[in-house]
Parts: sequence; structure tokens; C-alpha cells
Amino acid sequence: MNAAVKEAPSPAPPPDVRALRNALGVYPTGVTIVTTRGVDGRSVGLTVNSFASLSLEPPLLLWSLSNRSPNLRAFRTASHFVVNVLAQEQDDLAMRFANPAIVDKFEGVALRDDALGRSHEVPLVGGAAAWFVCACRDAIETGDHTLFIGRVVAHESAAERPPLVFQGGRFTALR
Ligand SMILES: Cc1cc2nc3c(=O)[nH]c(=O)nc-3n(C[C@H](O)[C@H](O)[C@H](O)COP(=O)(O)O)c2cc1C
Repeated sequence: MNAAVKEAPSPAPPPDVRALRNALGVYPTGVTIVTTRGVDGRSVGLTVNSFASLSLEPPLLLWSLSNRSPNLRAFRTASHFVVNVLAQEQDDLAMRFANPAIVDKFEGVALRDDALGRSHEVPLVGGAAAWFVCACRDAIETGDHTLFIGRVVAHESAAERPPLVFQGGRFTALR
């Protein structure tokens, strides 16, 4: 090898994704189902724990969606989405909406059919602990996810329903 040609430093070893995932999983989160309506009118939704509040004035929140999701286009084109914060006993719904093998995740799922439920033509999951109906403000592709930022246009909470919690790869409850 030509002595003048310096060998490129070997690239950093790829991070151990599982170890990173486990470390991130130490942090407890609530559990949500984010829903919208596709251009064909079909209800779309998935289990999400990347949800966070972002700003109060204006009222903004965020969540991120894997770029591999078959629902990426639906969320990118939707005018509104809903963050349904799940109640403690809704772990079965969380598992259902995290299962890509279920073709119609909404089959048999009770949706709110009241004024808020009908107001923006987006599906609101019944029995949740809180609902945030958002106008899509931004969708930013970054890393292997797309970050969605929504402006809250309506919200409601059921303070008497404790939230579902996700920690260490399991669903749990507040003690
Ligand atoms: C507790 C929990 C939290 C999750 N959070 C997210 C998330 O924030 N973003 C995401 O893209 N997927 C998340 N997922 C994975 C999706 O729910 C899962 O991949 C789902 O099948 C995606 O639906 P789709 O394939 O219909 O898009 C989470 C799963 C679980 C169990």
C-alpha cells in the first residue's frame, strides 16, 4: 500500500439496536392510538408511544411514524389526525393496533359517535382517557421515521380513567 495514502478510519460499529431499544424502554410512556381517515375514506390507526406535547400557545403536539408503515401516505395526506390516549384496561386495543397482520384493525372497535367524534371526520376510539383532535401542521422525514406535528383543534379528557402505561416492553398501570 502507498505509505502516503492514509487508511480511512474504520467506521464506528453499528449501534446495537436491541440494546438501544432496551435502554429507551426504561423510560415509561403512556400509550396512544393515532387515527386518521385515508383518501378512500377508510379508517387508519396504529399504536404509538412516541407522542409528546410540544407547545401550549399555539397548542402543538408531536408523534413519529415509521417510514416503513403502510399508512405513511394516509397520514401524510390527511388534513386531521387524532391522538387517542388509552385507558388502563385498553391494553388489548393497544396490542390489536400494533399488529400489522390484522387487516381491519377497527373491526368491532367502539368509536365515539357524538359531536366530537363526528366533528372532523376522524375516528375517535371509545373509552379512551383523552382525545386530541389535530390539524396536521408538519410532517418531517428524519432518520427512519416521519415526525408529525399537529395543532390541537379539539380535546377532551376523562380524568376518572387512569391511563395505560408502557415500560420495559410491557403494558402496566400507574401504582
Ligand atoms: C407500545 C407501542 C408503541 C409503539 N409506538 C410506535 C410509534 O411511536 N411509532 C410507530 O411508527 N410505531 C409504533 N409502534 C409500532 C406500531 O404500532 C406497529 O408497527 C403497527 O403495526 C403499525 O401499524 P401499520 O403497520 O398499520 O402502520 C408501537 C408499538 C407498541 C406496542
